[in-house]
Amino acid sequence: MTTTPALPPPYRVVAFEAIDSTNEEAKRLAAQGHPDSTVVWAERQLKGRGRRGRAWASPAGNLHCSFLLRPGCEIARAAQMSFAMALALVDAIAALGEGRLAARCKWPNDVLIGGRKVAGILLESAGATMGPLDWLVIGTGVNVAYHPKDTAFPATSLAAEGLAGVAPAEVLVALAAAWREWRERLEREGFAPVRAAWLGVAHGLGEDVAVRLDNATLNGRFLGLDADGALVLEDAHGGRRLVAAGEVYFPAP
Ligand code: BTN
Repeated sequence: MTTTPALPPPYRVVAFEAIDSTNEEAKRLAAQGHPDSTVVWAERQLKGRGRRGRAWASPAGNLHCSFLLRPGCEIARAAQMSFAMALALVDAIAALGEGRLAARCKWPNDVLIGGRKVAGILLESAGATMGPLDWLVIGTGVNVAYHPKDTAFPATSLAAEGLAGVAPAEVLVALAAAWREWRERLEREGFAPVRAAWLGVAHGLGEDVAVRLDNATLNGRFLGLDADGALVLEDAHGGRRLVAAGEVYFPAP
């Protein structure tokens, strides 16, 4: 195994050379009572999962990690954590690239460089339908050395963007530091500053988009986020619609 990442308190890293999925392991640890700020890291995943049941290519050389949280909040608020994590990814990439790489956020929680996906987030939680969550797992994958070539949305990697030779552990250290700041900000000040910062680095704001839902596709202009993080879409007649979950695509230039 390459060097296990060392993170400062309050983090505690649980490291694997290979595992099915760091999200699955974080969920198992949650069920065993492991505390907030446990971070599961794996050099490679055998069954890495993306959103909507997709597979997530997880070779050694990329970052695969899952943050276990015991946030004590309700599910609606937990979803806002993924926006904070996307901002942490943007900041971590900026720090690693010493300002040369400007990543942007794509709704709901992808991170792009040059319009191509470099990182994704998979949020999973458990708890009573009403009341505080028992746990929340924020799984994060970053294409550090490699990116898939056959995805519906084009992908890239830090290496392909000129940041070669970076170890996944270095990316995790930068991400954990940035995540700590954004999480604290969200918990201290609420979603408003996170929303504002996210809009400041949003990809495609004001542009025409197609939003794929489970059974339909909506077309319109991406106007922004509502106060809870739903996508605000303007239709051809100037009507506004809020979209809570879906996949955004941009027309080819
Ligand atoms: C997506 O964009 O579809 C989300 C991708 C999330 C991938 C990460 S890699 C670490 C964690 N473990 C998983 O199985 N998935 C997430």
